[in-house]
Amino acid sequence: MRDLGADTVIDYRTQDFEQLLTGYDLVLDSLGGENLVKSLRILKPGGKAIGIAGPPDPAFARKAGLNPVLRLPIAGLSSRIRQQAKKLGVSYEFLFMRASGDQLRQIAALVDDGVLRPVVGKVFDFAQTPQALESLAKGGLRGKAVVTLPA
Ligand SMILES: NC(=O)c1ccc[n+]([C@@H]2O[C@H](COP(=O)([O-])OP(=O)(O)OC[C@H]3O[C@@H](n4cnc5c(N)ncnc54)[C@H](OP(=O)(O)O)[C@@H]3O)[C@@H](O)[C@H]2O)c1
Repeated sequence: MRDLGADTVIDYRTQDFEQLLTGYDLVLDSLGGENLVKSLRILKPGGKAIGIAGPPDPAFARKAGLNPVLRLPIAGLSSRIRQQAKKLGVSYEFLFMRASGDQLRQIAALVDDGVLRPVVGKVFDFAQTPQALESLAKGGLRGKAVVTLPA
């Protein structure tokens, strides 16, 4: 992990990141729930937690073009976490990814330049796609599961 650029490495199975970290500007949360609540508490005032596991926020409901009747309950899903964030003087934002060739090109350039180094956990033939998905669902794979296409 240090080789990839991490200054501090925490093993979530044996350590609680909330007890070890404080005063951060930004947290990228991919788990949600209690992990997101803890993430708010390690931010410094004005900091932001961005979550991909949810809950969705009002900006997402607006950008998704939902009608006002649907927007309200969708935005309501995150009202508790947004209130908790407000109390701490920080903010929460939901990020919903969309396919973007332009972003992928920028990421590919960063990989080519060695700025980003993807870690490949296991390579599967195309015919082994079900096993690749099974392996992801099971967890414990260190790195990406890559499926190769037949030449
Ligand atoms: N908003 C969006 O656009 C968007 C897009 C894609 C995915 N998602 C959502 O984002 C979430 C994450 O997706 P994913 O594909 O990354 O899931 P994933 O493949 O299940 O990966 C979860 C990762 O989190 C690790 N982990 C598990 N418990 C942890 C803990 N307590 N602390 C730190 N790390 C922990 C796992 O490690 P181990 O391998 O050790 O178990 C694994 O590496 C899902 O809820 C998914 O639905 C949202």
